[in-house]
Amino acid sequence: MPRPATAVPAPLTTLLATRCGQRVALPPRLERLYGSLRVPSQRGRPCVFSNFVTTLDGVVSLNETGHASGGDISGFNAQDRMVMGLLRALADVVIIGAGTLGADSRHLWTAAAIFPSLAEDYRQLSAALGSSETPLHVIVSGSGTLDLGLPVFAAGKVQALILTTTAGAKHLLRQAVPASVEIRAIRTIRTPGRSGRAIPAPAILDAVCRVRPARRILVEGGPRLLGDFYAARLIDEQFLTLAPQIAGRAADDRRLSLVMGRTFAPDDALWGRLTDLRRGGSHLYLRYSFPGVPA
Ligand SMILES: NC(=O)c1ccc[n+]([C@@H]2O[C@H](COP(=O)([O-])OP(=O)(O)OC[C@H]3O[C@@H](n4cnc5c(N)ncnc54)[C@H](OP(=O)(O)O)[C@@H]3O)[C@@H](O)[C@H]2O)c1
Repeated sequence: MPRPATAVPAPLTTLLATRCGQRVALPPRLERLYGSLRVPSQRGRPCVFSNFVTTLDGVVSLNETGHASGGDISGFNAQDRMVMGLLRALADVVIIGAGTLGADSRHLWTAAAIFPSLAEDYRQLSAALGSSETPLHVIVSGSGTLDLGLPVFAAGKVQALILTTTAGAKHLLRQAVPASVEIRAIRTIRTPGRSGRAIPAPAILDAVCRVRPARRILVEGGPRLLGDFYAARLIDEQFLTLAPQIAGRAADDRRLSLVMGRTFAPDDALWGRLTDLRRGGSHLYLRYSFPGVPA
C-alpha cells in the first residue's frame, strides 16, 4: 500500500510551462507547491490524461511482492505524491486496471488518500471546479476476479464502477455487491500483442461517460490498460515523473515499462510533444501532449 505523504514538500521549480488551455485557479498552497496549472480547453469530449512515475531506465513497476507500487519507483517522494493528489483532485473519474488495484489493494485513488495533509487544499480545488470531492473509481477487469471486500468497494467512501466481461460479471455476482459498486459487462475484442481478448478503450470511455458525465478523466494505469488507451489514441496528455534511480532488469525480466502488451514503433510510431517541465530535487516532472484520434 502506498505510504501517504505527511510533511508538505518544497515547491517545484518550473522550467517550462505550457501556455495552452485554460488556467486553473489553484488554492494558494497548491499554487505555491506546483506553480501555475493549465488544462486543455473543452472540446466536446472529456480530456483524458495519465500520470505515471518511471525510473531513468524505464521501469514503472519492480513487480516484486511488497515492492510493486509506484512508491518503490519514486522513492516515496512527497512532491510526486503532491502532483498525484493534484491530478486526482482535477479528475472527475480515475480509471485503473485490476493489476494496479492488486498492487495497492488497500488504497483509494483519491487526492486525500495520497496526501492527507493537503486534503483540504485538494477539496477546495475540486469544489472550485464544481467536481465531486472523490472521483468515480473505475476498475477494469476482464476476468472479474476482484475481491469486493476491498476498501475501494466496501468502505463506502467512493463510488466504484467495475467494467468487465459477461463472464466476469457472472463471477463477481457470486459475492455480495456493496451499494456503492456498479458492475457493467462490455464486449471484448481480440487484441494484438495481448494473449487474449480485451475490452476496447473507446468502450471503456463510453461506459464511463454514461455513468458519470466527465470533463477530465485520469488513467492511472497500469501499463496494460494504458497500452489499450494509447492504441486507441485516447490519451491526450501524459504526466510522467522521472525518478533518479536505475532499477535494472534481469535477462528474463518481469519488470514493467510504461506500456505493456502493445507495440507502436516502428510501424505505428507514437510521438508526444513536451509541453511542461518542472523540477523537484533530482526528480523531473514531465508533461507531454499526444495527437488524438484522427478526425
Ligand atoms: N509507476 C507508476 O506510476 C505505476 C502506475 C500504475 C501502475 N503501476 C504498477 O503497474 C503494475 C500493474 O501492471 P499491469 O499492467 O498488470 O496493470 P493493469 O493494466 O492495471 O492491470 C492489468 C489487468 O487489468 C485488467 N485489464 C486492463 N486492461 C484491460 C482491458 N482493456 N480489458 C479487460 N481487462 C483489462 C486485466 O484484468 P484481469 O486479469 O482481471 O482480466 C489485466 O490482467 C503494478 O505493479 C502497479 O503498481 C505503476
